[in-house]
Amino acid sequence: MTIQQPIGVFDSGVGGLSVAKKIREALPHEDILYIADSRHAPYGNKSQQFIEQRSRALIQFMLEQHAKAIVVACNTATLSAIQSLRATFHLPIIGVEPGIKPASLQTKSGVIGVMVTRRTSCATAFHELVKRFSENVRIEVQACDGLVEQVEKGDLHSAATRDLVARYVVPLRDSGADTIALGCTHYPFLLPLIQEIAGDGVNIIETGSAVARQVVRRLTDENHLAGSDHPGKDIFYTSGDVQVAENIVSYLWGQQEKILPCPI
Ligand code: DGL
Repeated sequence: MTIQQPIGVFDSGVGGLSVAKKIREALPHEDILYIADSRHAPYGNKSQQFIEQRSRALIQFMLEQHAKAIVVACNTATLSAIQSLRATFHLPIIGVEPGIKPASLQTKSGVIGVMVTRRTSCATAFHELVKRFSENVRIEVQACDGLVEQVEKGDLHSAATRDLVARYVVPLRDSGADTIALGCTHYPFLLPLIQEIAGDGVNIIETGSAVARQVVRRLTDENHLAGSDHPGKDIFYTSGDVQVAENIVSYLWGQQEKILPCPI
């Protein structure tokens, strides 16, 4: 394996950019190949079988682009499919999951909130995760219909987005949660709004940095870190509309980017 191969990252849409940003910060010399599967966003209302098949197809495509590791930057896809993906593909596959563990270690009130998509809230692997940490803390799960769609539109600050965020965050705050875990990679883009509505006393946890550290660990262990000291390339694909993606990806990534059409 050569060392210039990209790290493949995918999500149902643009949410995984919140994870890719942390990987970019941690690994400035790596190439990152990102696929926003926006034609199929949100995954939250798709079947487990669909999510699994789609994840396989995207990983296969990234392998053809010589990816050396895959980051499933989507809680829904991780919780629905990661075991079967790891059984099929023989390269490091790193997933994301809601930060219930760090939240349960940090809470002082003993109540934590978890914001997730509806599909994640129904996933068996998610129920197991909640159960594992429910002995010592109370975990309030909030399925947040519609938030992924707002982020996909780049609508991070409108009155409609604020109302939706308030509908989900206020009950968590009122239940006594002093820590809220963001269990969907789209939600960190709404963090300022979530923090404002939750109030300063509430600690918001996202897992992007922890995932980036895990990517560094895995690539180090496998001896697959890029050897070059040139800045890494960012390569973006979308399965949705390229023009729409160019605007939203550039906005969320913080600089103008060119987007390629994903052929699958
Ligand atoms: N960013 C995805 C996640 O972390 C959103 C899933 C969806 O499209 O419903 O769960």
